[in-house]
Amino acid sequence: PIVGEWHPHESAKAHVTGGAYYTDDLVHRFTGVLHAFPVQSTTAHAKLLDVDASGAFAVPGVVEVITAKDIPGVNDQGAKHDEPMLPVDEIMFYGQPIAWVLGESLEAAKAGAAAVAVEVEELESLVTIKDAIAAGSYHGIAPTIDKGDIDAAFADAAHVFEGEFEFGGQEHFYLETQASLAYVDEGGQIMIHASTQHPTETQDIVSHVLGIDANNITVQVIRMGGAFGGKEMQPHGYAAVAALGALKTGRPVRVRLDRTRDITMTGKRHGFNATWKIGFTAEGKILALDATLVADGGWSLDLSEPVLTRALCHIDNSYWIPNIRVHGRVAKCHKTSQTAFRGFGGPQGMLVMEDILGRVAPKMGLSPRELRAKNFYEEGQDTPYYQPVRHPDRIRAAWEQALQDADIARREAEIAEFNANNEHSKRALALTPVKFGISFNLTAFNQGGALVLVYKDGSVHVTHGGTEMGQGLHTKMMQVAATALGVQLSSVRIAPTRTDKVPNTSATAASSGSDLNGGAIKDACEQIQARLAQVAAGMLGVPAHEVRFSRGVVSGLGAGKTVSWEEVVRTAYFQRVQLSAAGFYRTEGLHWDLSTMTGSPFKYFAYGVAASEVEVSRFDGSYALRRVDIVHDVGDSLSPLIDLGQIEGGFVQGAGWMTLEDLRWDSSDRPTRGRLATQAASTYKIPSFSEMPEIFNVSLLEKAHEEGAVYGSKAVGEPPLMLAFSVREALRQAAASFGPAGHSVDLASPATPEAMFWAIEAARSAV
Ligand code: MTE
Ligand code: HPA
Ligand code: CA
Repeated sequence: PIVGEWHPHESAKAHVTGGAYYTDDLVHRFTGVLHAFPVQSTTAHAKLLDVDASGAFAVPGVVEVITAKDIPGVNDQGAKHDEPMLPVDEIMFYGQPIAWVLGESLEAAKAGAAAVAVEVEELESLVTIKDAIAAGSYHGIAPTIDKGDIDAAFADAAHVFEGEFEFGGQEHFYLETQASLAYVDEGGQIMIHASTQHPTETQDIVSHVLGIDANNITVQVIRMGGAFGGKEMQPHGYAAVAALGALKTGRPVRVRLDRTRDITMTGKRHGFNATWKIGFTAEGKILALDATLVADGGWSLDLSEPVLTRALCHIDNSYWIPNIRVHGRVAKCHKTSQTAFRGFGGPQGMLVMEDILGRVAPKMGLSPRELRAKNFYEEGQDTPYYQPVRHPDRIRAAWEQALQDADIARREAEIAEFNANNEHSKRALALTPVKFGISFNLTAFNQGGALVLVYKDGSVHVTHGGTEMGQGLHTKMMQVAATALGVQLSSVRIAPTRTDKVPNTSATAASSGSDLNGGAIKDACEQIQARLAQVAAGMLGVPAHEVRFSRGVVSGLGAGKTVSWEEVVRTAYFQRVQLSAAGFYRTEGLHWDLSTMTGSPFKYFAYGVAASEVEVSRFDGSYALRRVDIVHDVGDSLSPLIDLGQIEGGFVQGAGWMTLEDLRWDSSDRPTRGRLATQAASTYKIPSFSEMPEIFNVSLLEKAHEEGAVYGSKAVGEPPLMLAFSVREALRQAAASFGPAGHSVDLASPATPEAMFWAIEAARSAV
C-alpha cells in the first residue's frame, strides 16, 4: 500500500525554493491593506487609568486605534473567560498589548503606537514561580492523583529520599511568527487567513469578540511555518484584532508580529516547581511517590489546566509506581500566559521522574541505567490513573534494541577508561525511556472530519480538519487517501484547511492529527469506493465485493480485464453516482473523569528509548553531544521518512529545552521588573547545526502494528521530544564523574554550560 512508503514532505520543494505560501504571503493580493502594531505595557502589573490615542492620530499614515472600548462583543481571547483581549482596568504583564494602531504602513503603525499615551498606577507584581507560591497566588484548580496507600508504603520502604526541582519553560520560536490577515466580504462575511493550529477555536473566539454568529466567519490555514503548540490558543487574539480592524475600517488588516513582539506577548512552555518524596525497596523498586507539581501559568489560565493534567498523568513515565499521590497547582503571576508546547505538560511530569531517578541512583549504589530498567512497567500493571498499560514489553524491547544497536556495554567500558585517564574532561552515556499517552485527555476532542471530492476526471481533492505546520500531516493524509481510494498518490491534492469545508474541528495537537483526520479521510474514501465498486462491478462483470482498487487500476477476481480509475469515475458520473463524501472519526474506548483523575484517557501509548553520550569540559562547563541512538515506536509507520524527521526534530527541540534555552525575566525591583530579558535570537538560543549530535542514529521499533489505529500507525509528533532527557542525564553523570564515587548531582534546568560548570565545581569539592 501507499501508506508505509517513503515519500518526501509534499511541500519539501516549495519550502526550500520559496514556492510555499504562508499566511503573510497573501498580503500582496490585496489593496489597501492596513498594518497593525501593538502598544505594549512597560509594567508587570498596574491599574490602567487612561489610554490617550490622540497623539497617534497626529502621526501621518495612522488610520485607526483599537482599544478595549471598540470591542462589540465579549472582550476575551481565551477559553476560560479570564483573558481580556485588551485590558480594561488592569495590566497583567510586561509587554501586554494595551491597544493596536492600524497604519497605512507598518512604520506608521509603529510610530503611532509610540505616540499613544498610557497612564497607569503600578501595583505589586509576582514574577517568579517562587513569588507566586509564597503569596499563595494560584489559578483555581487543584487536581490530585491518588492511588494505593502511600503512608503504609513509605513505612515499608528501605530507602526514602526527598527533594525539590525547579525548571524553566521554553519559547516556541517557530520561524513564522503569529500572523493573521482579515477582510470583510459581501454582507459582512469575515474571511480570516491565519497561522493557527485551531481554526475552529479561532473562528469561535472571533465570533464572540465581534458578537456575531460563527457562520459569518471563515478561517483558512494554508500552512504554518512551525507552531509547536504555540498556535493552539495564541493566534485567536491576533485574528480578532485583524477582524475587528477590518470591520471598523472596511479595509483588509494584517497582523504579523516581529520576533520581539512575538516573544514578549505570547505564552510559552510552562516551567514547573516540583517537591517530592520517593520510597524504594532494598533492591531499588519504586514503592511510593508523593509529589506536588506547580506549573508556572502566567497571568491567565489559558491551557494550563489540561497541561497540568497531562503532567500529572505522565509523572510515572515508563515506571510502575504502586502507591502514589500527586498534587497539582497552577501558579498565577505577572508573566505571559503559558500555554501548549509539544508534549503539553507530559514532558514536565516525566522530567520530574527522570530527575529523581538520576539523583537517587548513586545514593542507592545503583547505576541509573539499572535503576530505570528495574522499574519498567510489566504486563498487567496500570498507571496512577488506573489505565492498563498495553504493550509494556515494547519499552523493554526498545531498551534492549538500543543497548545492542548503540553498543552500550563496549562504550561504557571505553568511557570509564577515558574518564580514568582524563582529569579535565569527562564523558558519560545515559539511556532514558519514553511512554506517552495518545489522545486528548478531554474525550470530546478526539474527533476528526474530512471532505473528499472526486472530480469527473478522476482527480481527488481532500480537505480535512487538521493543519499543516511542517510535521508532514498532509503528506500522510495524501498517502491515506490514495491507499483508501486505491489511486495513485499523484491523483490526490490536499487543500488548505478551512472552517467552511470541515466544521467543528479539534486543534491539530496532542500528536493526534493523523489518527483523527486519517480516520475521517479513510471513512470518506470508503464511502466513495463502495459506491464506485457497484459501478465497476457492472463494467467488469463481477460482484461488487470482488472489485479491487489499487493505484488507479480497478480489477475483479477472475474478471479477465481491468479498467482504469478514471473510466470508473466517468461511468459513475453518468450513472449519477455521488462522487464526494464527508468523513468522520471518533476514537473509541476512551473515558476520563477529571474530578477523580481516573480513567483510560489514552487510546494507546507511544514508546521510545534514547541513548546519548556527552563529553564535558571542567574549565567552562561546555559540552559536546557525541552520539545519540534512538529506537522509537510509531506502530506501522504511515510515512517513514516523515516519521524519522519528526523523531529527529522532536529530539533536538527537547535537547534545546534541556541545555540551551534559558528564559530570563527581570525579577529585580528596577523599573524593568517583569520584562523578558531574552527577547530575540541574540539572547535566546535555540539549537542549530552546531548542536546536532555528531552521530545521530534513529530507528523505528519493528513489529509494532497498533490494532485499531489508522493502518496500524501511531502518533509521532510529541513523544520524541522527551527522548532528549537522555542528554540531561548524561550531563548529570558526566558532572558526577568529576566527584567521588557515588556522588549525586543536583543539576539546574536548562543545563547550560554555566549550570554544568557549577555542578562540576560542586562535584569536585564533594568528599
Ligand atoms: N513538526 C514541525 N515541523 N513543526 C511543528 O510545529 N508541532 C509538533 C509536532 N511536530 C510541529 C511538528 C506538535 S506540538 C504537535 S502536537 C504535532 O506535530 C501536531 O501534528 P500531528 O498531530 O499531525 O502530529
Ligand atoms: N498536546 C497534548 N495534549 C493536548 C494538547 C497538546 O497539544 N492540546 C490539548 N491536549
Ligand atoms: Ca511563543
